[in-house]
Amino acid sequence: MTTDLPRPRFARMYPGAAERAERRGATEHRRRLLDGLSGRVVEVGAGHGLNFAHYPAAVTAVVAVEPEPELRAAAREAATRAPVPVRVEAGVADALPLADGEADAAVVSLVLCSVPDQATALAELRRVVRPGGELRFYEHVVPHHHPKRGLLQLADRTGLWPALAGGCHVARDTGAAIEAAGFTIERSERFGFSASALEPRVPHILGVARRR
Ligand SMILES: C[S@@+](CC[C@H](N)C(=O)[O-])C[C@H]1O[C@@H](n2cnc3c(N)ncnc32)[C@H](O)[C@@H]1O
Repeated sequence: MTTDLPRPRFARMYPGAAERAERRGATEHRRRLLDGLSGRVVEVGAGHGLNFAHYPAAVTAVVAVEPEPELRAAAREAATRAPVPVRVEAGVADALPLADGEADAAVVSLVLCSVPDQATALAELRRVVRPGGELRFYEHVVPHHHPKRGLLQLADRTGLWPALAGGCHVARDTGAAIEAAGFTIERSERFGFSASALEPRVPHILGVARRR
């Protein structure tokens, strides 16, 4: 399986877009996402490494997997400034470079929207997290109600939004997919957030699930 997914247009666009989201509150979301983590962590789809600065000192090692080459290079740069040891590797969510049960916890932020198949990616996350270990998630999800739900489902079905946004899908029920994959959600906040003043607010979930 390939470990590289070059998306140069997305790689050039994402850091600026993410920076705007940080100023609108995403930094605080990342801090809450990682608060209380410890031990060996795998972060999947790490982008250019915006989470790295927020890992608590009790984390002993992070393996950060990123398939996009330009973002991965930027993540390696960010890893040099991280407060804990971070090793950045090429790879995709469906085939992680870790042994069974090697991680105490896994982290996904704004990634389960972009993987080709959530069930496959979550099964792989479950494989590498030890029994009783954690999955920390921060993801945008499908709204409960029409008309926004219908509009976003249409944007997904037509392939319009995925084509514009690096394969991102805006109408996934990620919380249900996490539970179906063999994790129990222990804590989850749901809130509206928009990454820029020009985009509509969409529901996000942020929380902790435990591997059954
Ligand atoms: C919206 S960005 C989020 C990046 C980072 N997690 C963050 O919070 O800023 C989505 C990331 O998922 C990565 N990605 C896309 N498809 C992936 C896959 N199949 N496996 C792992 N990562 C993937 C992209 O390269 C990109 O870095």
